Amino acid sequence: MLKQPLARSLQALSRPHPLQGLTRPFFCRSHALSPYLTPGCPPLLLISLQSFQPHTRSFTTHPSRSSASATVAAPKPSYSDDPQHLTDLLAVDDLPIISLDGNQVAIGWDPQTWSRFHNIWLRDHCRCPKCFHPVTKQRLFNTFDIPKDLTPLHAEATPLGLEVTWPSKEPHVSLYPWSWLHHNSYDPSLKKHQSSSDDIGRHRKILWGSKIQQSPPIIAYEDVMAPDNRGLYKWLSNVYEFGFCFVSGVPATPEATEQLALRIGFIRETQYGKFWDFTSDLAKGDTAYTTLALGAHTDNTYFTDPCGLQLFHLLSHTEGTGGETLLVDGFYAASIMKELHPEAYDLLSRVPVPAHAAGEPSELYTPYPQSGYPVLRHDSTTGELIQVRWNNDDRSVMNHLTPELVEKWYDAIRLWNECLTSADSEYWVQLRPGTAVLVDNHRVLHGRSAFNGKRRMCGAYIGVDEYRSKLAVLSEQFSPDAIVKATNDIPDTHVNGRNIWNSAL
Ligand SMILES: [Fe+2]
Ligand SMILES: [Zn+2]
Repeated sequence: MLKQPLARSLQALSRPHPLQGLTRPFFCRSHALSPYLTPGCPPLLLISLQSFQPHTRSFTTHPSRSSASATVAAPKPSYSDDPQHLTDLLAVDDLPIISLDGNQVAIGWDPQTWSRFHNIWLRDHCRCPKCFHPVTKQRLFNTFDIPKDLTPLHAEATPLGLEVTWPSKEPHVSLYPWSWLHHNSYDPSLKKHQSSSDDIGRHRKILWGSKIQQSPPIIAYEDVMAPDNRGLYKWLSNVYEFGFCFVSGVPATPEATEQLALRIGFIRETQYGKFWDFTSDLAKGDTAYTTLALGAHTDNTYFTDPCGLQLFHLLSHTEGTGGETLLVDGFYAASIMKELHPEAYDLLSRVPVPAHAAGEPSELYTPYPQSGYPVLRHDSTTGELIQVRWNNDDRSVMNHLTPELVEKWYDAIRLWNECLTSADSEYWVQLRPGTAVLVDNHRVLHGRSAFNGKRRMCGAYIGVDEYRSKLAVLSEQFSPDAIVKATNDIPDTHVNGRNIWNSAL
């Protein structure tokens, strides 16, 4: 049912991949949009915060200075009902317009765009060295010392940012860079891509279907291991964008594979051990340790926090055949669910699913709370899908459904299963010794076909936080965000290798 329209829409989405320069005919650049329904995919929606770094200009001698500063007694801003006035002011001075307005400071970026920041919010976010430790990046100021009715003595638009003078025994002046204020504007939010819960290094999720087999993301082992970290950055960037990435040329040994995993961060030790090196001998009480076929699933649905990444490397397969690896983009399958079966999608997003790992007599894992977590987890602020948790084999008793939901929920997981097992979703690949694959376990489901003979597999789990931290650090180096670029020249901003205005802080 999905095949024809999907094929057409995917063809229309063909565009080059920024990291490899290859044509990728299968994805939608914005993961909030379904490639199934959106043949015209928008370009990357990035706010050019650079444009809010005003030109260096001595505005203090400019005749329009009064437009760039405000005091307690300032009249209410006039630009909101007089756009032409603001246009004139901006035309003569590139600085945003500011005005004190009761319990808020208003900033006019242009005639159509303005933000308001509460006084308490501004005071709480002061990043002067007295209020914010420049090395540890921790708040030094006691938020609860801020009087409820705090108002600035003075506010001024300067080339570096909004400067606010607060009443205190000694003068206390806070500087807020324009790019940082614009990025963090909450009244209104000025983020153009509202769906983005997470924008590490300005990467975006790229949804894919089975056609990814034509050009899957891949990187060479020697590049990942190179000390300049550029290859490591590309590897993790690919995982962020596609949810998986192959590594070619890996020596077919557990030692080399473990070194590969350690490039990302600590290996996450579990009941299966730290670094795994296993065969189908049922050494652990889990079907992974058999020769059985495994449907597409994510790992650790029985944990409160399933591992973030997993690395697999087939070291050898002798005296037999089979054992193809299956990868399915859970975000892509979910996007189809959402478009075609919104009610079922809603159920998968709301109904918690209990799970267990109970194959070892000495262990009995269930998530906390024991009722489990929904199959689809969303960011509570943006509504964006952020995690898929699905392993039907590990599911426990569904005893918490109301009677009227029982059949609806079974219908919903049937539809979900159809989306996951559709030929358009499934990417089958025969792994060979020397090619490892790193998978985002919060997004891409994996499985395998049955096999015979002897298969030796190794790999590891890596925590989601270790992966995100490493990617964030490498992004600072290779793809600094616009705020960092715009504020690096402000004195005392870049301390101990990190900009205090980094958008993650
Ligand atoms: Fe698994
Ligand atoms: Zn301060």
